[in-house]
Amino acid sequence: MKFQINPELFKEQVLERLPAIPKVVHEAWKLTEKKDVSPAKISEVIGKDMTLSAKVLRLVNSPFYGFPNRIGSLKHAIVLLGIDVIRGLLISTVVFGEITPEIEALWYHACDCATTAGIVAKVLNIKEKDEMTVAGLLHDMGKVVIKNYFPEFAAKIEAVKRQRHCTDYEAEMEVLGLAHDTINEWMVERWHFPLVLKEPLVYHHRVKRAKHYPILAAVIELADMLVHIYRLKKGNVIPTIESEVCQYLNLTPEVLENIITEMDRTLYTSDWGEV
Ligand SMILES: [Fe+2]
Ligand SMILES: [Fe+2]
Repeated sequence: MKFQINPELFKEQVLERLPAIPKVVHEAWKLTEKKDVSPAKISEVIGKDMTLSAKVLRLVNSPFYGFPNRIGSLKHAIVLLGIDVIRGLLISTVVFGEITPEIEALWYHACDCATTAGIVAKVLNIKEKDEMTVAGLLHDMGKVVIKNYFPEFAAKIEAVKRQRHCTDYEAEMEVLGLAHDTINEWMVERWHFPLVLKEPLVYHHRVKRAKHYPILAAVIELADMLVHIYRLKKGNVIPTIESEVCQYLNLTPEVLENIITEMDRTLYTSDWGEV
């Protein structure tokens, strides 16, 4: 059953089927490459697409970021979070689009991971905390692509998971010969993500391969595993965690306890239906 598909051909099909990134996101991104461009100018460009802007503001005001006061404008959000984060949030609205029953579980998992990755980064004093939140939101975007655009493969992956009692990753490898992290890689290249987001999205199951941000990849791998444990249901399999993750993050029992306490406090009351 292994390597049934041709990876080059599959990559072409994935890239063909990806949703188009709205023009305003491209425009805003081009603007940021210029020197001395103001948040007001960037927000003016993104603001041309009111539906997108409203979705991003909803995400900014969700429990992921925990801002005590409501952020009312895109300009304020860009000042607080930076354009890389806002761009990642814009792309998440494109990747997830309509939350259909097929991808609902992935959306809740993404929200849990976004929150938890932010908490891990905060407890560990990692300066890219806001980037980690958006990376948590997007870390399994390759799975969304499989579910939305390759339902026949999604069904096979589910069947393998049930038969073998294995993780998503193992089942994807079995059916596709590659996993969602490789699809993430194709997506971040197509959409020109900055390295600070690219590496955690591509290497959150293979942290040693990250050349620039292995610690950030480790944050996502840890957050993902903790969320799987927190939401464990009978029959599900918890992903394993690479030994390097604990080394990169200098995890001690005390640190882990702080993360879990904060995670429980936040996730216990979160309702992602409202995001
Ligand atoms: Fe993953
Ligand atoms: Fe995940």
